[in-house]
Amino acid sequence: MFTDSHAHITKEFYEDIDVVIKNAKLNNVNRIIIDADSIESCYEVLDISSKYDNVYCCLGIHPENINENVYELDKIVEDNKDNPKFIAIGEIGLDYYWTKDTKDKQKEILRHQMEIAKKYNKPVIIHSREATKDTIDILKEYPEVIGDIHCFSGSYETAEIYLKMGYYIGVGGVLTFKNANIKDVIVKLPLNRLLLETDSPFLAPTPKRGETNEPANIPIIADFLANLKGISIDEVSKQTEKNINKLFNIGDINE
Ligand code: NI
Repeated sequence: MFTDSHAHITKEFYEDIDVVIKNAKLNNVNRIIIDADSIESCYEVLDISSKYDNVYCCLGIHPENINENVYELDKIVEDNKDNPKFIAIGEIGLDYYWTKDTKDKQKEILRHQMEIAKKYNKPVIIHSREATKDTIDILKEYPEVIGDIHCFSGSYETAEIYLKMGYYIGVGGVLTFKNANIKDVIVKLPLNRLLLETDSPFLAPTPKRGETNEPANIPIIADFLANLKGISIDEVSKQTEKNINKLFNIGDINE
């Protein structure tokens, strides 16, 4: 059994969400954690997670959407604080690749959402692109908060810093790409701190590169990781499931 720790399963990207979730189950991907990236998608992921037993949601505003009203997020989180399907604040972070002219605003919105995570004792799902130093500096201001460094693409030294801070490292389709340097980093990281993710609909793994990604592709990434580390796919499954249960404080549906 597997969990997709990070996917964007919304109407914007998929015609039939039912089919996506059924396909995942057929491939032993029994749990899917879906991330919001805007206020509108917060409402949508709440709705979808309420309809499926095995779907959980994260609420947050992505750095590409910093003009959204972050105070509305405060209200949505407060209204859902007892909702067992709401398990993290995400996807949040800093992205200086697409939008470097808004650095200050991005940092302000990230800090606001880290405050929410601290207040409600939720882990965070972090997006960081070309912003490693600022991301680490801000996360260090909140030592009470841990989470997932989603789609990690940094150096071994950077990974070590995040691991020391208590964060988990998200491993997705990029690992399977030819010439991906991230292989040399991931192979050295401890399995008990890795999470499998697709980031669907983006970043489909080889040999599905270029297609619309789906949670059903998680076993391809797990198999690749198992071969890279020289362990069985069963070991990858068991440990990454434990990691999910621990970080997000959710029960193991397989027990
Ligand atoms: Ni994402």
